[in-house]
Amino acid sequence: MQIFHFTNKTQYYSTNKFINLIIISCFSLIIYFICSIFLAPNNHFHTSISLQNNLSSSQTNLDHVVFGIASNELSWSKRKEYVKLWWKPKRMRGCVFLEKMIHFSSNDTNGDEYSLPQICISENTSNFRYTHKGGTPSAIRVARVVLETVRLNYTNVRWFVFGDDDTIFFQENLVKTLSKYDHRFWYYIGTNSESFMQNKFFSYEMAFGGAGFAISYPLAKVLAKVFDSCIERYPHLYGSDGRIHACLSELGVGLTREPGFHQMDFHKNVFGMLAAHPIRPLVSMHHIEEIDPIFPNMTTVKALEHLYNAASFDPHRILQQTVCYDTWFSWTVSLSWGYAVQVFDKHVLLPNVQRVQESYAPWKSSHLGGLYDFDTRKYEPDPCQRQPVYFLDKVSSSINGTESIYKKKTFEKCKFDMSSPRRLEKIRVLSNKLVLDKQQLLAPRRHCCDVLPSTSSNVMEIAIRECKEDELIHMQH
Ligand SMILES: *[C@@H]1O[C@H](CO)[C@@H](O)[C@H](O)[C@H]1NC(C)=O
Ligand SMILES: *[C@@H]1O[C@H](CO)[C@@H](O)[C@H](O)[C@H]1NC(C)=O
Ligand SMILES: *[C@@H]1O[C@H](CO)[C@@H](O)[C@H](O)[C@H]1NC(C)=O
Ligand SMILES: *[C@@H]1O[C@H](CO)[C@@H](O)[C@H](O)[C@H]1NC(C)=O
Ligand SMILES: *[C@@H]1O[C@H](CO)[C@@H](O)[C@H](O)[C@H]1NC(C)=O
Ligand SMILES: *[C@@H]1O[C@H](CO)[C@@H](O)[C@H](O)[C@H]1NC(C)=O
Repeated sequence: MQIFHFTNKTQYYSTNKFINLIIISCFSLIIYFICSIFLAPNNHFHTSISLQNNLSSSQTNLDHVVFGIASNELSWSKRKEYVKLWWKPKRMRGCVFLEKMIHFSSNDTNGDEYSLPQICISENTSNFRYTHKGGTPSAIRVARVVLETVRLNYTNVRWFVFGDDDTIFFQENLVKTLSKYDHRFWYYIGTNSESFMQNKFFSYEMAFGGAGFAISYPLAKVLAKVFDSCIERYPHLYGSDGRIHACLSELGVGLTREPGFHQMDFHKNVFGMLAAHPIRPLVSMHHIEEIDPIFPNMTTVKALEHLYNAASFDPHRILQQTVCYDTWFSWTVSLSWGYAVQVFDKHVLLPNVQRVQESYAPWKSSHLGGLYDFDTRKYEPDPCQRQPVYFLDKVSSSINGTESIYKKKTFEKCKFDMSSPRRLEKIRVLSNKLVLDKQQLLAPRRHCCDVLPSTSSNVMEIAIRECKEDELIHMQH
């Protein structure tokens, strides 16, 4: 009954969306023609004409991306397990850069050549000066991964994407995010740190390397050409990303910030951050050895596999936060799709649910080290005072959409009565695959959800749907 209701609604909105889409498409086509007439005779004339035929011919996809992954002999044998989580050997191009070839024991390499990127050996950089005290000259080798990746001379490239060996990517979301931008122009896309100190010390305008970042093809070609002469001016910088940022600055290019990339300068428990992801597709995560496994009672790798499994059902929806209210009990339900559901036993206003709970330990222990450049709120240390949290158990899909089940995974002995959400054992969530059309990509709007009438006292059912035109997300009385 309820499911039917839900499906019906969704169809209604999809139809609406389809009509909207037609209107929007027609509109942009008109603008496009008007703009072509007025903007054609500029400096990019040649480029515009020669590439025009290919512009509409294909959407950016994984085949247009080349990866450069920075690693080293010491870390690769362990961290290749993280790269295996996201690397698609038949579909992805690029190299992992080491300072020299390593020889694994025969057990170690089992199947690696089929599941990992090829290894490229970095050029010798001992002739470059490095003067930052407390850093390591390998920053120069790693910075030059950009140039050496370009020099692999792959064809049909639109974007170069760089990351560390402990950076993991969500490829569907990476490609979708890049597809917002015209790869024929000069783009430097990524994000800075979440940590105030890190940004203050390094730069707000730098794409932090571990978060991963992308450089459009024409910019990367030019950068590669001038890079060696440029980094001679920056022996005093600490890292590789600082050098890349410096040289792009010299080329006059600034950072385009995309909040789906995550540097993750945190320690321990990043629950608060994963439970309040911005309304943008999750592109990357970093520092996965510095943080606790993201699901309780699992190893780091198993927990990430669990997240990737959920993402395989609905990649664009992974970690997307949806909030709804149970008016009968006055509960606030906050869902981070594919990860966790929290049920607060009171009305929490939407702007507060969107804040990141400070569950993490600061990256640096100095007195400013705990300051972060996003909205936060307290994380209650006592689990019996805290809202109950239900972590993803499993996901399945059928003609009716996607069903994800969340369960209690930690067992505290807390006292509670029947009006407490603590009696819930399981949350069942129904959703349809999130389709990121141009409108959703450029002007995203959070989805809404409904708490469905319960069929059992310890199970809660939730259905996610698009919000109505003028719908407000709040508790109704
Ligand atoms: C258009 O794309 C094709 C392959 O998809 C390529 O061979 C061709 O060179 C491209 N043309 C231009 C003008 O870039
Ligand atoms: C390879 O694995 C086998 C069994 O899994 C083990 O007995 C052997 O010692 C391993 N060899 C090396 C070089 O690690
Ligand atoms: C790099 O070059 C320097 C001299 O230019 C040389 O001394 C050193 O051995 C080289 N390193 C490697 C790993 O080849
Ligand atoms: C890529 O092309 C450049 C310039 O044509 C050449 O110098 C370089 O050796 C090529 N690299 C590879 C890996 O083929
Ligand atoms: C943790 O995992 C182990 C093995 O998978 C299982 O036996 C145990 O019950 C789990 N503990 C909790 C609290 O879920
Ligand atoms: C889909 O929904 C219908 C109507 O609620 C239900 O009868 C059917 O069993 C569902 N199918 C699956 C595969 O869940």
